[in-house]
Order: sequence, then structure tokens, then C-alpha cells
Amino acid sequence: MKNVIFCFLIGCIFLSVQSCNSPGNTSITSPDGQLKLDFFLKKGEPFYALSRGGEEIILPSSMGFEFKNMPPMKDNFKIVKATKDSVNITWEQPWGQFKKVRDNHKELSVTLQEKSGDKRILHIIFRVFDDGLGFRYEFPEQPNADSLVIINELTQFTFTREQKVWWIPVHSENSYYESLFRLTKMGETDTINTPATFEMNDGSFLAIHEAALTDYASMTLLLTDSNQYESDLVPWSNGVKVYGRVPFQTPWRTILVGDTPGDLAMSNLTLNLNEPCVLDDISWIEPTKYIGIWWAMHLDEYTWGQGPKHGATTQNAKRYIDFAAENGFGGVLIEGWNLGWDGNWAKDGSDFNFTTSYPDFDLEEVCRYGAKKNVRIIGHHETAGAVFNYEKQLEDAFALYHRYGVNSVKTGYVNKYLDGKEWHDGQFGVRHYRNVVETAARYKIMIDNHEPVKGTGLERTYPNLMAQEGGRGQEYNAWSADGGNPPSHTTIIPFTRMLAGPFDFTPGIFNFDYHTAAGAKVQTTLAKQLALYVIIFSPLQMAADIPWNYENVPAFQFVKDVPCNWSESKVLNGIIGEFVTIVRKDYNSEEWYLGTITNEKKRNISVDLSFLEEGITYLAQIYEDGVKANYKDNPTDIHIIEKKVTKDSGLSFKLAPGGGAAVRFVPIVR
Ligand code: NOJ
Repeated sequence: MKNVIFCFLIGCIFLSVQSCNSPGNTSITSPDGQLKLDFFLKKGEPFYALSRGGEEIILPSSMGFEFKNMPPMKDNFKIVKATKDSVNITWEQPWGQFKKVRDNHKELSVTLQEKSGDKRILHIIFRVFDDGLGFRYEFPEQPNADSLVIINELTQFTFTREQKVWWIPVHSENSYYESLFRLTKMGETDTINTPATFEMNDGSFLAIHEAALTDYASMTLLLTDSNQYESDLVPWSNGVKVYGRVPFQTPWRTILVGDTPGDLAMSNLTLNLNEPCVLDDISWIEPTKYIGIWWAMHLDEYTWGQGPKHGATTQNAKRYIDFAAENGFGGVLIEGWNLGWDGNWAKDGSDFNFTTSYPDFDLEEVCRYGAKKNVRIIGHHETAGAVFNYEKQLEDAFALYHRYGVNSVKTGYVNKYLDGKEWHDGQFGVRHYRNVVETAARYKIMIDNHEPVKGTGLERTYPNLMAQEGGRGQEYNAWSADGGNPPSHTTIIPFTRMLAGPFDFTPGIFNFDYHTAAGAKVQTTLAKQLALYVIIFSPLQMAADIPWNYENVPAFQFVKDVPCNWSESKVLNGIIGEFVTIVRKDYNSEEWYLGTITNEKKRNISVDLSFLEEGITYLAQIYEDGVKANYKDNPTDIHIIEKKVTKDSGLSFKLAPGGGAAVRFVPIVR
């Protein structure tokens, strides 16, 4: 197992606390001095504003709350205290886009008190990093506000003018973020989800999201003016947004800023605003590549439920295990082995039984067979949103898997609602998903959560929360009525969905010649499927195709070689919706990997290799689109070559329409 305890801090901590001289006017700057946060009261109402390089980017925006059980807290305040801190530490991750993460920020903590009435107290904490701002509200223990029933959070985000934004709508298309991102002017949006990524009029980029969503409702953004959103919390079915008991704190509201979209994608601000790891032993947490009894169900070649096409049989599982063992995959996902899949499971999940298998599947035997071959079963809990039914069985379900050596479970919540009435991203869902992650940790089980609440960096605190879906994945290329994911999709998500954390997108479809009733298609070339292993980070990374489709295809070597855990990552170039190139260094070796992809347009991409180490010659194993490749009618034309390169070399790629390229750099001479 990898280098065992990771949740320690390294480096040095600089902490300085001082009270502000003039508490009526409080501001702090980022460590590099470029970002400036101002906080002030206007007639007792709190406002924050943000500027970058002396230019305003967020105009004074008001803050506050409305409650069901007491008067609002939004004006009538005075500042009673304001203190400043700064932190500069480096901490290490067991897995991620980076091994070492620097947390360098300045903090302003303001204590507000109502001037009259119950004289309630509210803290607001701001942290300014070089790449953005986070702020949260804290309700300290106090007699006149001990239980909170929040019906509105009044945080505004006011831009200097109307900007362009990449966004997906809230709940109207589906309730777990599986929409295509679109770019419009702010004034043309609905209520939108976060992360929302803004293309600013000065050419810079900004994203609004949140961090450390642990016991609160998700924040969506309600358009209140063509240059302004206000936080709109996802409600419980009774209309209440959040229940809390003091002391109580909200998640962090975050504003990421960068000169390029790549700056947003490489930011660690969200992780830095989460609590450090709370698990004592994480030696069992292992990033893994896996295959699965999965794509064949989506293509309708197998079924989840019983019948002649049942995929999850003991015999079939053993074939998959054999393939995984022969090709170096650590896991085999098995969906459809347990009772509950017969009938319309997606409508009502209350028949799911997580401990009883179908007669043609022997879980103990399959796990024993896998263990002999050093392959673990990846367990599966599809709930269809029936949370009550799942929570009743949770302990037994994880105990069963633990007994058989299963150390990761994919969960699923296909249904518009949880328990027939609650949103996935309301406080009910947030609490449930956290309960699952915490319970799983007690059984030493990693989680891959489909149909989740959006990621907000909780994987720092619970590093067994490996990956989530929460986006439009490969599966849409099997059955979606709109033909599948357009070629631009994966050039957008690194700068939008990926700001919420690892995505179990499931790359690696090699056979493009399939036919489903919906007529959907994978709209990429084969080389682009390879590149997605570098572009889309997930520490549980799937080779999604039916395994036999990989046999005798030379490009499969890249899928076998590519890691799913990284010590360094860099975005070399990218225009959202057009193209992107990312390089990453293996967490456990000196190898580097490159992925570059384009939308439906063919394009030439040139990169310099200055990210490679000085003094080392590398063998570059290049998988690129063949000259006749095209996502529409010739996706499998691929050209594989090897070249010696150093950090002074450059590489050029001719990307086909819907194409890409993937490169492995193996050090050969020091
Ligand atoms: C939706 C998930 O995203 C997919 O991966 C899974 O196969 C089905 N639900 C069934 O659980």
C-alpha cells in the first residue's frame, strides 16, 4: 500500500492575528496583493466587494438571512470585532491532481451584532487566496437564536456589468446536473447551478461555486439582474431551506479567478476550504482502474434484471475477472447482481435488497475467485433514490461487502427525487450522501457516487469519497435521445463540471459500431477516448467498453499504462468549448502523460515540453488521429509512434474533427 499516512501537514504555518484599527472599514488582500476584499456596513447592512489588480470585479454585494422562526438578519448590524489571520502551509493528498497542495491565504473574521432587538450575533469569515475568495457565515452559540430555520440566504454576486457564463439549469432537465453546458449572457440564464464559469469582458475567467457542503442546502444562483445573482438554496419539500442548531456554519461561498480557464481548473481553493482528513487510517484507500459488467447493459445487450440476458452471473463475472487480471485492472464493477432490478426499478427503488443475490450469482464465490487473481469486485448499490430503504440496510450492505474483501462501492440514485419528494441537492440529500461516505469509511470502503449532490471538496476530509458522476457522462452515448454527447462536451467540462472534483465519466469506448434504439453515438475518435484519461481526472477510472472490444487493439496499451493518480497537473492551453491540452505526472513514478482534445473542428496543436524534467531523455509513445480520422465516419483511424524527446523539444498534433491525442513520456536516459 502506498505511503500510508497522508493527512499530516508539512511545511510551516505562519499565523498572525491582529485586530483591525477601524472595524467600520475592513479589507484584506491576497498574499500576492492582487485580489482585494472589502467588507463594510451600509446603514447596518453587510456588503462585500472584490477587486483584482485594482479593478473591481464583484461590486458591493449584500449578505444576510431570512428565517421562518425569527426576524431576518440582514441589516441593523454594527461591527463589534474584526480580526485578521494569515496561513501559509503545504499539505499532502493521498490522491488527486496534485500530491502537494499549498494553502496560502489571508483571513478576515468579522463579528456583527444587531444594534437593537435580540442583539443577535453573526460572524462572517473571508479567506483571500491568490486565485480567489471564500467566505462563510457562522452563527455562534447565543440565547436568542439557538435553532435556525432558514428560508433564504441573501448572498449576492454583483458583477460590474453583464458577463458571459457557462451554465446548466437547476432541476428542469434532470436533478443531478446531467445537462450540456451552454454559454449565454447572464441575462439569458435561468436559475443556474454551480460551478458556473464566467468569461469576463476583460478576457479573464471567474467561477462561482461552494466548498465544504456538509449539512446545508446546495447553493444555486437566481438571476436578480442582468449583472447579478443571488444565492438560492435548494429547498426541502416543505419549502424550508436549512435547519440548523447553533453553533452552526454555512459552506464557503467561493469565487475563483484566473487569467485563463486553465487557472480555474488547476485551483486548489475548494480543497483548501475543506477540513483536513478525519480518518485515522487511510492505508486501504487505493486509486484503481476498473472494468465492469456495465456498458453492455447500457447498449441493451445485457440486462440488470433476471432473464436470458442477465449480465451479472457468476460465470460472466469470472470472465471479466480473468480479463482484468490479464490486463492489470484492479477492479471489476458488477451491476445487477442483487435483488430489485426486475420491473421498473428506476421509478421505485424500494424493492432493492443490498445483501441478497439473484440465484445465478454467488457473491462469495466471485469475490474469492477475484482475490485469487488479485482483482477486487467493485460493489454496486443502486437505490433509485429510495433513501429510506437504503439507509435501513446500509450497515448490513457495507458489512457484507467488507466481509468479502470489496473495498469500493458505486452508489446510484436514478430518480428525479429522493424518497419521492426531496431533491438530491437539498439538505436532506447532503446529509444522506455524507452519511453514506462516513458509514462506508467505517467499513474501509471507497465510494463512487452517481446521481450525487455536487462535489465541494469533501474528499479532503473523507478521502474515501473517490469520484462522483454529477455530469453528463459516457453513458449518454448509449441511450440519449439527442444523439449522444457532442464533440465539444469534453472540451467544456474541464473548466465547468470538473471544478467540483473528480468525475467518473467512464472513458475508453473502442467499438463505435453499435446500435441502440435511441440511435446515440460516441462522437469522438479513438485517440480522443485515450486522451480523456488525462483530461478528466478520476482516482477510480474505468475502461468502459465491453472488454472483448479491447482485444487485439494496439491502442489499448495506453489504457493499461495510464495512471489514475497524479503528483502534478498543468493545463497547457485551452479555449472552453474548443480545445484543451493537459499534462500530468504519475503519482508513483517519473512518467508524464499528455492529453489533447478538440471539438468538432480539426485543429493543429503545438506544445513545448518544458514541463519535463531537466537532464532526462524520455521515450514519447504517441497515440494520435490518423490522417483519415473523423469522429463521424472513421473514428478508429489511429497512428501510434515513438519518439525521443527532452524538455527542450516540442510536439505538434493534427487533431481530426472530434479528435485528440494521448502521449506517455517514459524516462529512458538520465
Ligand atoms: C446510472 C449510472 O450513472 C449508471 O452508471 C448505472 O449503470 C445506472 N444508473 C444503473 O445503476
